Amino acid sequence: MSSSNMITLALSKGRIFDETLPLLAAAGIEVLEDPEKSRKLILPTNQPNVRVVLVRATDVPTYVEYGGADIGVTGKDTLIEHGGQGLYQPLDLRIAKCRVSVAVRNDFDYAQAVKQGSRLKVATKYTGIARDFFASKGVHVDMVKLYGSMELAPLTGLADAIVDLVSTGNTLKANNLIEVERIMDISSYLVVNQAALKLKQAPLRRIIDAFASAIPAEKN
Ligand code: PRP
Repeated sequence: MSSSNMITLALSKGRIFDETLPLLAAAGIEVLEDPEKSRKLILPTNQPNVRVVLVRATDVPTYVEYGGADIGVTGKDTLIEHGGQGLYQPLDLRIAKCRVSVAVRNDFDYAQAVKQGSRLKVATKYTGIARDFFASKGVHVDMVKLYGSMELAPLTGLADAIVDLVSTGNTLKANNLIEVERIMDISSYLVVNQAALKLKQAPLRRIIDAFASAIPAEKN
């Protein structure tokens, strides 16, 4: 875990960073630099014993698992792919909401393609989620692991289908893809290093409790 009395919080740039700021404010924590304007990877806060480290979204659980950070905010999608081992997951923060879905070209006959005994070529960075989902449907898949721009795979013949995050649906629409199945709803979670929770209990509890009190209300 990060040294002595310092609390290190791992965040990824973009939506998770932006939507975590109000939760930090509830804990009296203000980040003193804008990650979109600075190249710094360690950002100070108004609290001398709290700092933010900027890591790739998929690396947040790893940083917290091995103690490079004491706490972090990470999407459920990333948490599932990581496995969650070594992480205490006290809060669904209900921020950065989206879903993981299956999408195909709008001229592709998905229903026919997933009929019993058939094989489907699936491109995704969410290989764990995709494998479990298609196994539960009894569909055989040939998995193509990608690290981004999944939308391109069905358009170039690399795959029949993708498993990706969908928020507004604009990215799919712009690429002539349609969402054919919703696999799971996603939001971001607070994750805490288990050793840090014991050794830095008071300051971490304060942050966890402040976050809990500031979670946005569930919309119906
Ligand atoms: C996600 C996802 C889609 C897009 C969907 O990418 O991979 O490309 O958002 O959003 P929409 O339905 O509102 O168009 P993200 O911006 O998280 O970054 P990434 O491409 O690095 O995964």
